[in-house]
Amino acid sequence: MLKEKLAARGLPALLEMNDERPVKTPEAWRKRRAELLDMLGREEFGFTPAAPEKVTGEIEKSQDAFANKAVQQTVRLSFDTPGGPFSFPITLVAPKAVKPAPVFVAVSFRPEVPDAYLPAEEIIDHGFAIANIFYKDVTDDGPACDGLAALYPRDEKTGWGKIGMWAFAASRALDYLETREDIDACRACVIGHSRLGKTALWCGAQDERFSMVVSNDSGCAGAAVSRGKAGESVDRIAGVFPYWFCGNYQAWRGREAEAPFDQHMLLALVAPRKLYVNSAEEDTWADPESEFLGCVAASEAWTIQRVPGLVAPDEMPRVGEPLMDGGVCYHVRAGSHFLSRTDWLYHMACREKFGV
Ligand code: GCU
Repeated sequence: MLKEKLAARGLPALLEMNDERPVKTPEAWRKRRAELLDMLGREEFGFTPAAPEKVTGEIEKSQDAFANKAVQQTVRLSFDTPGGPFSFPITLVAPKAVKPAPVFVAVSFRPEVPDAYLPAEEIIDHGFAIANIFYKDVTDDGPACDGLAALYPRDEKTGWGKIGMWAFAASRALDYLETREDIDACRACVIGHSRLGKTALWCGAQDERFSMVVSNDSGCAGAAVSRGKAGESVDRIAGVFPYWFCGNYQAWRGREAEAPFDQHMLLALVAPRKLYVNSAEEDTWADPESEFLGCVAASEAWTIQRVPGLVAPDEMPRVGEPLMDGGVCYHVRAGSHFLSRTDWLYHMACREKFGV
């Protein structure tokens, strides 16, 4: 049943090189992976500049938090760019009971910790640290060429969009976390909701240091395949939010079926690490079925590397039936577009089960 549903979408082949040679081995997959990264950079999100040589962190504020169970700090991260120095703050909350603690790097809509989207005490109680990045501290969510956007030369067609910049910031946070003795940077999960779920995916696709990637309700240009998608389309997203993407993405408006790429390729770039995609039942704009089919289609990237991909019965799972036995995990939650405590509990259960 899923096979037919997927076939009806007519997705471009994942395990076929650009010159049509089949990809049959893990070594060949590394080459295909490079092609896909290049394609999504050039056609969708724009190319990411090289990482700075060094990221430093200055602890601006430090206090006990959550009944003394954790330390909460404001840390200002700084690094050099071609246009001069840049800095942005993160909020780091680390549990005292677990050292070094696995961490969630959250790219967030708000700077506050805790927040409706970030049940910090519960996360700490599960033994995870949180590094929260307020996305507008990196660059504005609009066409303005401010913050990080002002500091790098940008090609009109292939230069990075705002999603790429927010993703870059999450990687810089990981650069810093690698220097902290209280954080287990080998178990770092990047997470985001909606436009920031797209960001988490693009970040984790490029930065293989993240051991897990969570996409919450990311929808169009995120986990949902564009071909045959309900709700938001490439035409609409590229028209309303052109600055999230590179200039070339405009060419695919209304032409998703002709594009050499689709979103399963973005998901596949996380393989063989842990990918967790989740949807909300009422979130028809994001389109749960297209997000789930993205996971089904991407699974081949895990199996070619001899890791099980999505382990699922031959149908879309029901609400409250998480699938987390394979490299690709998925759930659909009751309710609307939101990063809910329910979602976090599933993500944490998955991390605990697999030690990622
Ligand atoms: C809009 C947009 C979506 C995006 C969402 C969000 O609805 O169309 O693509 O995911 O905003 O970020 O909340």
